[in-house]
Amino acid sequence: MSHDLDELKRELLNEIAKSGTLEELEAVRVRALGRKGLISERLKGLGRLAADQRREAGAALNRLKQEVADAIAGRRAELERAELARRLESERLDVTLPARPVPRGRIHPISQVLDELVEIFADLGFSVAEGPHIEDDFHNFTALNIPEHHPARQMHDTFYLEPDPETGERRLLRTHTSPVQIRTMMAQKPPIRIIAPGRTFRSDSDATHTPMFHQVEGLVIDRDIHMGHLKGCLEAWLSAFFEVDALEMRFRPSYFPFTEPSAEVDIRCRREGGRLVIGEGDDWLEVLGSGMVHPKVLEHCGLDPAEWQGFAFGAGLDRLAMLKYGMTDLRPFFEADLAWLEHYGFDPLDVPTLAGGLGS
Ligand code: PHE
Repeated sequence: MSHDLDELKRELLNEIAKSGTLEELEAVRVRALGRKGLISERLKGLGRLAADQRREAGAALNRLKQEVADAIAGRRAELERAELARRLESERLDVTLPARPVPRGRIHPISQVLDELVEIFADLGFSVAEGPHIEDDFHNFTALNIPEHHPARQMHDTFYLEPDPETGERRLLRTHTSPVQIRTMMAQKPPIRIIAPGRTFRSDSDATHTPMFHQVEGLVIDRDIHMGHLKGCLEAWLSAFFEVDALEMRFRPSYFPFTEPSAEVDIRCRREGGRLVIGEGDDWLEVLGSGMVHPKVLEHCGLDPAEWQGFAFGAGLDRLAMLKYGMTDLRPFFEADLAWLEHYGFDPLDVPTLAGGLGS
């Protein structure tokens, strides 16, 4: 009997130690201590023994029962600790994560600057006009007082399309946003106040030039418009855009076939260890071309220059973005590099407003 119990004990303790899950352990418990378990059956069999044998065998069985129960409780505690550790590892919660979902995607600096410009000019009473990227000679050149064989045509490094097989006409990718001036003046009656932002194309490529780039055009047509209006408008725009009170500007006489007089506009700046500070210092930075709309341009659009005058200006949108947000290379603007966009892009929920801050 005692030999038999030793054998049973070894077997049961071995099974308990080997059980790898709570379910396996429970199966061992049922097999040993369940109502029909190995130990329970033996306890029931005690009644068949003589009284003196019964006491001894009963004591031995109860000791075994107790040892097995203790071993099961010990193993259960071990398995539960392991299970808890596993859950803590797999169900770990990072309490430093933001409470709301992280906004995905960034606003490209060009889109951001465009939104800023639309906001500023809307406040000044301008609306947004658009024109096609594929233009004809008339809108891109002739109507802008750049006749055929005019040297300004060579200056534009134009991309031409294949000539039309029937008419021989060669359409082109617009080299500036100025054709939108023409389209607007031909389509609507003055007074006109528009900006025309958009893509432009020239066969040119280096750190600050890409074959496709962006410009923003401005056009105002009304009665008795003069250079003072142009200056006031540019001052309001550039101060708001660069977020500098009373930004100092310099008008340099220049030449554009479609404006007379023409001026290139510089703003005061300072370079400080690779950083550009706008609005103070002894340096000047060219930001745009401008002038009074040439009478011939008004005539091409069916407007009487004796009645209507106006001013126009054109600036590089990408260049404005580079100056305001401190980028030195233009090429990554068009490389769709997500790491670059993550760094230089803007929060989609942070819409620029004059009241709330344009570029914050
Ligand atoms: N279209 C000119 C350019 O691309 C800029 C400009 C626009 C100048 C309007 C004067 C008036 O360089």
